[in-house]
Amino acid sequence: MRPSQLTSFVVAMVLLGSMTESANGQSLPNLFPLPNRSGLLETYNVNHAPISLTGAFFQSLGTNGRSCASCHRPAEGWSVSAAGVQLRFLLTQGLDPIFRTNDGSDCDQNIDTSSVQGRRQAYSLLLNRGLIRIALSVPADAEFTVQGVSNPYGCGDTSTLSMYRRPLPATNLEFLSTLMWDGRESTPPSTVKITYPDTGQLLADLAHQAMDATTGHAQGAAPTPAQIHDIVSFETALRTAQAFDYQAGLLSDARATGGPVALASQQFFIGINDSFPASFAFNPTGAPFNPNIFNLFNAWTNSRSSSRASIARGQAIFNSKPITISSVAGINDVDGLPASFSGTCGTCHDSPNVGDHSVSAALNIGVADVTSPLDVSYLPVFTLANKVTNKVVQTTDPGRALITGKWADIGKVKGPILRGLASRAPYFHNGSAATLADVIVFYEMRFNIGFTPQEKADLIAFLNSL
Ligand code: HEC
Ligand code: HEC
Repeated sequence: MRPSQLTSFVVAMVLLGSMTESANGQSLPNLFPLPNRSGLLETYNVNHAPISLTGAFFQSLGTNGRSCASCHRPAEGWSVSAAGVQLRFLLTQGLDPIFRTNDGSDCDQNIDTSSVQGRRQAYSLLLNRGLIRIALSVPADAEFTVQGVSNPYGCGDTSTLSMYRRPLPATNLEFLSTLMWDGRESTPPSTVKITYPDTGQLLADLAHQAMDATTGHAQGAAPTPAQIHDIVSFETALRTAQAFDYQAGLLSDARATGGPVALASQQFFIGINDSFPASFAFNPTGAPFNPNIFNLFNAWTNSRSSSRASIARGQAIFNSKPITISSVAGINDVDGLPASFSGTCGTCHDSPNVGDHSVSAALNIGVADVTSPLDVSYLPVFTLANKVTNKVVQTTDPGRALITGKWADIGKVKGPILRGLASRAPYFHNGSAATLADVIVFYEMRFNIGFTPQEKADLIAFLNSL
């Protein structure tokens, strides 16, 4: 660490220490700073109250000891980080309730969890990549058949497929246009699509999701309406973002607007700043797309602090670096959109200062493809055949196709919210990017982007400050 970094670090730790004294185990003070590798993450409770750690979200409502907080932890960006899971394994010898064989282990059959060594092996994907096993059945009317499953961990069933996915953050939920990686909790008939104006659709979907999470992950009976209400009102009051950077200091200093308090006043509605052409009319106000998705660090352009200037440059790269978008299912195969065009990071991450897509848009950018530029060899491979054309594809996760049954939806997932990233590595739905640098490597190779080393460093500094 450089001396300036060290000073910031000491200040941060003193701050943390003094706040810890006010924590009583029952709640976190509002805006309690939680450290990660690049700074401090904070969660703001929009009700201006401490963040209670005793509500239904933190209670074991099922039969296996798990609560929502087993997989959605305040200190890990309300997801889990692989490093955090490893620490929990170490401290509990692999007995913490996240380590359960229903969906925490690589497979739920023929495993030995009677010894630490056995558990280390059984939970290898959770430990190494923070992955939970998601088993979904192939829809009866699917446009494809599953010809084969090659799963190194067992669980090779062809009618119920086992995918391995990262817990999405249970915070900043008010900015969502669809729930779950594959949108399955916002899909009729069991749940509702979130449309403009949202007349309670998001809340209904979150209630349904809380029920499914309790019966699934926690192996319980359905929670009571009061418990569901408690969970949903708790999680929807949270706004989470990086608040302090060890090098750049307070991310809301000198007219910058980083951190969770500013995020709480960020406007959002379904379709806000949608990037599709105006003819699609996805933005109900008819306003044209503004490519400046993030403006948090505008005031730091030309800052005399090199770290602040770097973050501001990274933001400008996110907003403006040209990317040739081609072969992305969900964009380039849509009627009325070109097979190839010049866009930016913000073409897909278009929601202002949040970074998910402001309308439900399942996309296949190739993260689950067997040809991904990142290593995906630790994942199962599914061979799918089109019932009409007999065309065959291989993928490590069929994504939304397992919800809609549609061939065109193979490999499609949503782009997640890009706040609080520094606390929740690894990235992408399958954890294939161990770091934000790996995320950049993915984009660079997948879309042939020529980033200079400086541009990469700036972009990473920016993403770490979100
Ligand atoms: C065993 C780990 C685990 C537990 C326990 C768990 N979740 Fe999750 N959660 C996940 C995973 C994995 C996903 C993403 C799965 C997917 O999209 O296929 C997820 C997704 C979510 C999402 C979707 C966020 C978004 O951006 O779409 C919400 C909200 C959520 N969980 C809330 C809860 C609540 C509330 C509970 C308790 C009732 C809970 N979770 C319990 C692992 C867990
Ligand atoms: C063509 C659409 C598209 C473009 C362009 C795009 N993204 Fe993404 N991004 C996505 C999708 C879709 C995902 C989710 C992919 C997955 O997990 O399989 C994603 C995921 C991410 C994640 C991981 C978030 C997490 O929680 O795991 C980061 C970080 C990210 N993108 C940053 C960027 C940056 C930086 C750029 C520009 C260099 C960019 N994206 C360009 C669509 C896009």
